[in-house]
Amino acid sequence: MKIVMLGAPGAGKGTQAKRIAEACGIPHISTGDIFRSNIKAGTELGKQAKAFMDQGALVPDEITVGMLMDRIHETDCKDGYVLDGFPRTIPQAESLTEALSRTGEAIDAAIDIEVPDEDIVLRMGGRRACLHCGATYHTCFHPPRLENICDHCGHELVLRDDDKPETVKTRLEVYHAHTYPLIAYYRAAGVLHEVDGTKNMDQVFAEIREIL
Ligand code: AP5
Ligand code: MG
Repeated sequence: MKIVMLGAPGAGKGTQAKRIAEACGIPHISTGDIFRSNIKAGTELGKQAKAFMDQGALVPDEITVGMLMDRIHETDCKDGYVLDGFPRTIPQAESLTEALSRTGEAIDAAIDIEVPDEDIVLRMGGRRACLHCGATYHTCFHPPRLENICDHCGHELVLRDDDKPETVKTRLEVYHAHTYPLIAYYRAAGVLHEVDGTKNMDQVFAEIREIL
């Protein structure tokens, strides 16, 4: 099962991708998480990515596509994966389609989580992320058991650098200009499924389960 998650920043892609990955026994691959762990580790890739991410801009396709291709060719991906945050541009989607088609494969489902821009801003301010394991919480909608501590790995939770209101606005603009067209791309491929992302996390997951 090869799944692509679509949706604006803060729509809940990471939240639902983690649940899908657990339920299906396949890896959750988030390009944002890969960049953030490289930033934390101080790698060259991290340094390159940080400049773009802090502005709310996209990391260039030349950096992102190669990184994702390497990841999906690792052995844990042989039975499929959930992609979260990739593809984010039409050229990225075309690279993925082309790479898969070489071995007669294709994306099985693209799940678009729909949330209006107004709700997004509210969600981002309350988000707390674990940079160690990638888990995501919300101060109101999904608080950790202990304040600011990750339930899964015990590391400290942080407010992401790109979750400041000004940066969120830029990320939404970038989303509408570059990523939104992917909905039509996957609809044309016959694999698009749209879910209402304004419902609570369990209801959204129930809808996705139904689809899968
Ligand atoms: P990335 O990390 O992918 O960020 P994003 O797409 O902006 O998405 P988010 O992670 O912010 O949101 P999400 O949809 O995962 O929501 P979440 O589940 O956390 O990318 C970051 C940056 O990296 C990009 O800006 C770019 O610079 C770069 N990058 C990454 N991939 C790239 C690519 N392919 N090409 C180029 N550049 C790339 O939920 C949000 C909050 O809401 C949480 O607090 C959560 O608890 C809460 N929540 C979730 N669901 C619900 C619900 N149903 N009800 C109430 N609250 C909810
Ligand atoms: Mg995410």
